[in-house]
Amino acid sequence: MEFRHLGHSGLIVSEISYGNWLTHGSQVEEDAAKQCVAAALDEGITTFDTADVYAGTKAEEVLGRALKGVRRESLEIFTKVFWPTGPGKNDRGLSRKHITEAIHGSLRRLQTDYVDLYQAHRFDNETPLEETLKTFDDLVRQGKVLYIGVSEWTADQIARALKIADEMGFDRIVSSQPQYSMLWRVIESEVVPLSEKEGIGQIVWSPIGQGVLTGKYLPGQQPPEGSRATDKGGSAMIARFMRDDVLTRVQELKPVASDLGLSMAQLAIAWVLQNQNVSSAIVGASRPEQVRDNVKAAGVKLDESVMGRIDEILGDIVERDPAKTVSPATRP
Ligand SMILES: NC(=O)c1ccc[n+]([C@@H]2O[C@H](COP(=O)([O-])OP(=O)(O)OC[C@H]3O[C@@H](n4cnc5c(N)ncnc54)[C@H](OP(=O)(O)O)[C@@H]3O)[C@@H](O)[C@H]2O)c1
Repeated sequence: MEFRHLGHSGLIVSEISYGNWLTHGSQVEEDAAKQCVAAALDEGITTFDTADVYAGTKAEEVLGRALKGVRRESLEIFTKVFWPTGPGKNDRGLSRKHITEAIHGSLRRLQTDYVDLYQAHRFDNETPLEETLKTFDDLVRQGKVLYIGVSEWTADQIARALKIADEMGFDRIVSSQPQYSMLWRVIESEVVPLSEKEGIGQIVWSPIGQGVLTGKYLPGQQPPEGSRATDKGGSAMIARFMRDDVLTRVQELKPVASDLGLSMAQLAIAWVLQNQNVSSAIVGASRPEQVRDNVKAAGVKLDESVMGRIDEILGDIVERDPAKTVSPATRP
C-alpha cells in the first residue's frame, strides 16, 4: 500500500480506502462483509469510509463489528451526516441538533470514541452555514471528531465555508468527497483547482464506476448474477452507466489494461490516483478477491500516452459538467 496526506493536513491515509455503501448491511451477508474488511486490513488499507445513512445505519454497525479489536490508532475511520436517519423533521440535514445527535449515533454504532474525519454528506440549503461549521468545530474541540470534510459540495460552497471558518477561527475543511472516475470528471474544472489552492484533498468515490469500469457488464447482455446491477438496492444507483454506448467504450479499454499487465479495476483506480489532488480512492467490494485485486493499483504510474489513449477511447461519453455537483434544494 502507498499513503498520502489528506490535503494539507497532517493526517495520512491509505491511497486506496475501503467503503461499505450498498454492501454492508444490505447486498452482502455479515460474513462476507467481515472477510472484505479483513482482506483490506491484510492488504495494508488503513482508511475506512462509511455513512450513517448507509443501509439505514446498519452499515456503520457492521463496520464497527468488523473492525473490533483492531488497534484504533492504526485506523482512519470516516463517516458522514446529512441524509435522513429517522422519520423526524430533525433527523436530517446539518443543523446543530441533527449533527450533534448524529455523531453520537455514529460513534455508538462504530464502537469508537472519535471518528478521524466527519463529512457533511451534502450541502444543507436550509441551515445557516455558520451554524453547521460552528457545530463541527465544537465536535473537534470535544475530541469526537478529528478532521472535517464535505461531500459533493460545489467549489463555491467550499469557498464560502473556508471564508467563514477563517473569519470565525473555526477548523477548516480538509477534504472533499466527490464522485470521480474516468467516466465522471465533473470536479476537474472548479473543485480541484480551488482545493489545490486551499490545501483540500479529494477522497473520491466510485472510482471503478460502481463496477462498470471492470468491463464485466457487456453491451446488449444481461448483467452477471450477483453483481451490483442485479442487486435490489444497487441497480438504480448504477443505472446511469448501464448504457450500451458507455459499456461498448469500456470494452475498448481492455487492451490498454492488458498492455500494462493490469486488471481493468486496477487501471480505473490507478487513473484517479494520477491526479495529485486525490488523497485516496475509496473502493467498494462485495467479496474479498475484489479487494485483493483492487489494492494492486496503489503506486501504479500511468504515462501521458496511456492517459491520452484512454481519453481517445472514451471520447464524448465522459461527463465533465461541474453543474452536475448538486445538493437537494430542500432537506430530503
Ligand atoms: N459521498 C458520497 O455521496 C458517496 C456516494 C457513493 C459512494 N461513496 C463511497 O465510496 C465507496 C465506493 O463506492 P462504490 O462502491 O460505488 O465504488 P466502486 O469501487 O466504483 O464500485 C464497487 C463495486 O464494484 C464491484 N467491484 C469492485 N471491485 C471489483 C473487481 N475487482 N472486480 C469486479 N467487480 C468489482 C463490486 O460490486 P459487485 O460485485 O456487486 O458488482 C463493488 O461493490 C462507498 O462504499 C462509499 O464509502 C460515497
